[in-house]
Amino acid sequence: MQKAEQDKLKQEAARQAAAMVKPGSILGVGTGSTVKFFIDELTKRNQTSPLNLKAIVTTSSRSQRQLEENGFHVNELSEIDQADLIVDGADRVADNFDGIKGGGGALTLEKNVAVNSKKCIWIVDESKLVHQLGDFPLPVEVLPISCEQVKRKLAAQGLNPEFRLTDDGKRFVTHYGNYILDLHVDPIPVPAGLADYLDHLVGVVEHGLFLNMCDEVLIAHSDGTIEDRKR
Ligand code: 5RP
Repeated sequence: MQKAEQDKLKQEAARQAAAMVKPGSILGVGTGSTVKFFIDELTKRNQTSPLNLKAIVTTSSRSQRQLEENGFHVNELSEIDQADLIVDGADRVADNFDGIKGGGGALTLEKNVAVNSKKCIWIVDESKLVHQLGDFPLPVEVLPISCEQVKRKLAAQGLNPEFRLTDDGKRFVTHYGNYILDLHVDPIPVPAGLADYLDHLVGVVEHGLFLNMCDEVLIAHSDGTIEDRKR
């Protein structure tokens, strides 16, 4: 699919998601190219008829900047109890609504906002759909202090870890000053088992397996239709 065509699909899913935001609510806003369209659409809606959102929390400095440039005030997650809704993108979504996220490196904040939201909607184009999780490197955020040991342990488990690098070949550094190890496992045979292993590995800050977190997915199909899939 051409990028322009894919962008059109992302934009349409984003428009529908923006229409679902309730005035006066507390909104979580994710990260990525699809979410960028969502912020555009949210801005348009807010300009036509003010949403008077009680608070907005977001999952990256990129989204924060775009929101603030469009006149929204962004709160810290610690300033709210729970968001009413988080709208985010995803890198892969399985049939059971489990997903891989963190392609943009914002997984830690994304998961923290997701688990502190009453409802989670992902907006994706159909290229993100898989029957079984895999088909995309699984990001694992690791503390620099123990990253080499963690990498060796992951390699010994056959998980093929590789440090994520920037375009100029340096290690990618997250919002929190950590590194990302991308695991090359396809398919992931038992995502819950892998999540449990990673959750207990000292030195791992967070990982990109988002299991049992998503309630609804807006899928932009290449025929131009938007499918609203609810759990
Ligand atoms: C960032 C993410 C994004 O939501 C994910 O990478 C999807 O991005 P895009 O909409 O650009 O495909 O998890 O960490």
